Amino acid sequence: MSNHELERRAEDLRKAIRHHDYLYHVLDAPEVSDEEYDRLFRELRALEEAHPRLRTTDSPTQRVGGSPLEGFQTVEHVAPMLSLDSAQEEGKLRRFDERIRKGLGDETPVEYVLEPKLDGASVELVYEDGVLARASTRGDGVRGEGITENVRTIAAVPLRLRSVDRPVPRLLALRGEVIMRIGAFEELNEHLMRSEKMPFANPRNAAAGSLRQLDPGITASRPLDIFVYDILGLEEGEDPPETQSAGLRAILDWGLAPSEMARRADSVEEILAYHAELLERRDDLDYEIDGIVIKLNDLVHRAQLGSTSHHPRWAFAFKFPPRKEITRVLKIVPSVGRTGVVTPVAMLRPVELGGVTVSRATLHNVEEVARKDIREGDRVRVQRAGDVIPQVLEWVEEPGRERAQAWPRPTACPSCKTALETRGPFLVCPNSFDCPAQLAGRIQHFASRGALDVEGLGEETARLLVSEGLVMHLPDLYALDVEKLTELEGFAQKSADNLLRAIRESSPVELRRFLHGLGIPEVGAAVSRDLARHFGTLERLRSASAEDLEEVEGVGPKMTEQITAFFGNPRNAALLDQLVSGPVELIETEGASDAPGPEAPFAGLKFVFTGGLERWTRGEAKERVESLGARVTSSVSKATDYVVAGSDAGSKLEKARELGVTILDEEGFAALLEDRVGG
Ligand code: IVH
Repeated sequence: MSNHELERRAEDLRKAIRHHDYLYHVLDAPEVSDEEYDRLFRELRALEEAHPRLRTTDSPTQRVGGSPLEGFQTVEHVAPMLSLDSAQEEGKLRRFDERIRKGLGDETPVEYVLEPKLDGASVELVYEDGVLARASTRGDGVRGEGITENVRTIAAVPLRLRSVDRPVPRLLALRGEVIMRIGAFEELNEHLMRSEKMPFANPRNAAAGSLRQLDPGITASRPLDIFVYDILGLEEGEDPPETQSAGLRAILDWGLAPSEMARRADSVEEILAYHAELLERRDDLDYEIDGIVIKLNDLVHRAQLGSTSHHPRWAFAFKFPPRKEITRVLKIVPSVGRTGVVTPVAMLRPVELGGVTVSRATLHNVEEVARKDIREGDRVRVQRAGDVIPQVLEWVEEPGRERAQAWPRPTACPSCKTALETRGPFLVCPNSFDCPAQLAGRIQHFASRGALDVEGLGEETARLLVSEGLVMHLPDLYALDVEKLTELEGFAQKSADNLLRAIRESSPVELRRFLHGLGIPEVGAAVSRDLARHFGTLERLRSASAEDLEEVEGVGPKMTEQITAFFGNPRNAALLDQLVSGPVELIETEGASDAPGPEAPFAGLKFVFTGGLERWTRGEAKERVESLGARVTSSVSKATDYVVAGSDAGSKLEKARELGVTILDEEGFAALLEDRVGG
C-alpha cells in the first residue's frame, strides 16, 4: 500500500471503530459481533505498530498509555461545577417549585426536565476541536484533580467527538457522572477479596477510587461507565443549546451517553410520579441512583434565576429515602448456602430501607459476628446498597441496657446436622452432596439469571422442591411434571405449567452460563466466561489439566484446584453426564473464536512474559504478540513456545529451563518480531 493508502486505511479503521463504540456504549445497539470488532481493532493496532507515524493520540488504540503519575495536577474547570440543593421531603420539593414559579412570574409557563440522580463520581470532560483534551474530578467545584489519562481508559468516553449529526464546537466542557455498574462492582470486590485487598463499600466509592489511581493501567482494568448530563461551557461566542432537552440531544449527537430516562414535566404531581416510578425501578437498574434531579428546561429561565454560591436556583435533587437505618436484632440464625458456607443472618425488627421493608441482614461469617460483636437483642445500623443483600454495619450503644451473651458459634449444620468445619473465617458444612440446604442453594443458583435463567425458580421454590423430596439432585429438575408440582403448596396448574416451560426453555444454553450455573467454588460469571472462551467445549474443559487451566488469564492455583476437584469428583461427573447427555443442550464454540486467523505470523504460538522489559510494558508486549496471532499465558508448561524473560525474572524462568522451553531475552524477542513481521 502507498503511504496515502495506509493513512486512509488507518483513518477508515478509526472511524469504523469509533462508530461501533458509539453503537455499543451509547446507543446500546451494536451492529457487529465482538469478533468483527476485535478484527478491526487488531488491524488498526498492527498498522499503527508497523507504521508508528500513523498513530494519533485520539486513536481508539491509545486509551491506555501513559505511565503511573507521581500525583494529580490541579485543574481549573471551564465553569464552576456547582452542587445541587437537595431534600427528601415532599414539602421541600413543593417549595422549590413555588420559588421557581414566583421567580419567573406567574405568566411564564414552567417546564422541567427530570433525570435520575446518578450515584457516582462527578467529572468534567473538556474537548478541544473535538478531541478529549482533559478530564478532572469535581474537587471543590472550581478546581479539581486532573485525571485525563484515567478517563481516557473509559470505553464510553469518546476520545474524539462525533461530528456526523452536529458540528463540533471549538471548545466544549461537559459534566457527567462516572459510575460502576453493580455487577461489575461485585465482581471487582470478589476479585479484590480473593487477592486479599480491601473491597469497596459501594459502587460510588469503587468508581471514585478507580478514577483516582495514579496508574492508568489499574483504572483501565476497572469497568467504568459514564452518563453525561450537562454542558458546562463552550467557547465565548458559541451558544449552547437553548434547553436541557436540546442539550441532552446534542450530547448524544456528539457521541456520549446522556442520562437515561430523562423526561419532561410541568407540575409537582408529575415530579412525584417520576420519583415514585424511579424508586420502584431502582433495584432493577444495574447502576445506583439515589434520587431524581429536577432541572428547569429553558436556559433563559435559568439565567433569570441564577445561582447562590453553592447551587443553582433552577435545579433541585429530590432524594430517595436513605438505605441506612437503625433497628434491632431479634435473633441470629445460621444459614447454609450452596457451597456449604454457613452465613449468620440477623433477623431484624422490620425496617424501611430505601423504600423496601427489610427483616433480614447478613453478618457475612462467624468471624465478622465476633469482630463486630453483634449479639441478639442489639440495636444495630443496617445498610442496603443496590440489589445487594442488606448488611449489619455495627451495633449502637444503649446506655443502661444489658446486652445478651456473645452469639455462640454453631457446631453442627442447621440443615443436615453434620459437624461443621472451620475454613479461615468461615464455618462450612462438608456434606456437599446430601445437605438439603446446599442442594436448594445449588438449584437456586443454577436457575438464576446469570446462569440457566429459569424464571420462577427462586429461593422459596428451590427449598420446597428439596424439602418435598421432588429434587434430590440437579437433573431431577428435568423430570418434574405437572402432577408432582401441583401437589406442592402454592402451585396451581398455571404456575406449574409456567415453571415447567421455563425449565424446558432454559436449554439450549451457552457454555459460559451453564458453567456459572454449576456453582464451582471460586468460579464466578467472569471466570466462567473466560473458561468457556478458552476451552470452547465442556469436554475440553473437563479434561483440562491443572497446567491447561492456569493458562487462562486470571485463573490461579486456588481456582485451578477447585475446578479440577469439581470435575474430578465422580458424583459431579455423573451428574454432568446426566445433564448434558439428556435435558441440557450446550451452545459451544470451537476454540477461541476471536483469535486472528491461522495465517497470522504467530498463529498457534504460546508466549509467557516474565520480568520487566525496557522497550515495552508487559501489556504492550502481550497485545503485540496477541495481535500477531499468539496466545499469552500466565504460566509455563511444556506447551509454551517462548518465555520472554526481562529483568528480575524468577520462577517462571527456572521452570522454562527445567522444561527446555525456548527462552528469549528482550533483544531476542525484538529480533523475533523483526524476523517474523519486520519489526
Ligand atoms: S446536575 C448545576 N444531574 O449529584 C447542576 N447532577 O450535588 C449540576 N448528579 O455531585 C448537577 N446525577 O455529580 C446533575 N442527572 C444529574 C445528576 C447529578 C447525579 C450529582 C452531581 C453532584 C450531585 C449533586
